[in-house]
Amino acid sequence: MIKIQDIVKSYNGERVLRGVSLEIRDGEFVSIMGESGSGKSTLLSILGGFLAPDEGKVLWDGKEIGALSEGELSALRCDKMGFVFQSYKLIPTLNVNDNLLLPTVLGKKLSKETRKYVQSLVEELEISPLLKKFPHQLSGGQCQRVAILRALAYSPSVLILDEPTGALDSRMEKKVMELLLRINREKKTTVIQVTHSQAVASYSKHIIHLADGVIEREKGNGAAGK
Ligand SMILES: Nc1ncnc2c1ncn2[C@@H]1O[C@H](COP(=O)(O)OP(=O)(O)OP(=O)(O)O)[C@@H](O)[C@H]1O
Ligand SMILES: [Mg+2]
Repeated sequence: MIKIQDIVKSYNGERVLRGVSLEIRDGEFVSIMGESGSGKSTLLSILGGFLAPDEGKVLWDGKEIGALSEGELSALRCDKMGFVFQSYKLIPTLNVNDNLLLPTVLGKKLSKETRKYVQSLVEELEISPLLKKFPHQLSGGQCQRVAILRALAYSPSVLILDEPTGALDSRMEKKVMELLLRINREKKTTVIQVTHSQAVASYSKHIIHLADGVIEREKGNGAAGK
């Protein structure tokens, strides 16, 4: 369970989030929507512990991430979290293969099972022809597919994706969304995505609309009376 409690965040004195509270249960598929500039990416960064809020707390299974040490936060990210940034954040000096198999570049051994799973995702997301290329040699949509695969590769229990299909054509968008839905159903992975697309949001039951720094509307959160 992830709990976001009364999050407030300003940049240079300008308030972007004005008290956002939210509960995400294990295994949910959640979409966050809202106009450009409404604070969606800011909220995801706070959720993943990449950005500290000015006020409020984020709790992962009861633990406040703001209170974790760097080491504990890294462990949480490695063990539990897959994150797709809006700007992808691929490592520019590594080719696609090494971006995907980063733990091995860092000297870690991967199980046969994990390698097999990564290979199956490479095929499913049609990444085989890109493995030797570097990020600057890829199109936006190709970078996006690599970033998605990297987040999925080590079977995190929570996937956080910032506009995961924003650069994809409609065929690939459908493939990615069906893959996310399958992983959500089969592995019970929690999926939290930001999207501008009604079609992409329709894969989830729990939909949150951000506006003016607060949750303007929320449906499907399972609470009585909503
Ligand atoms: N690092 C930063 N420094 C200053 N202002 C920022 C920073 N990051 C975001 N902002 C501002 O905060 C507001 C919210 O930005 P954010 O990226 O969270 O919006 P968003 O809802 O994700 O928008 P989009 O749909 O365009 O991705 C915007 O007005 C943006 O200009
Ligand atoms: Mg954004």
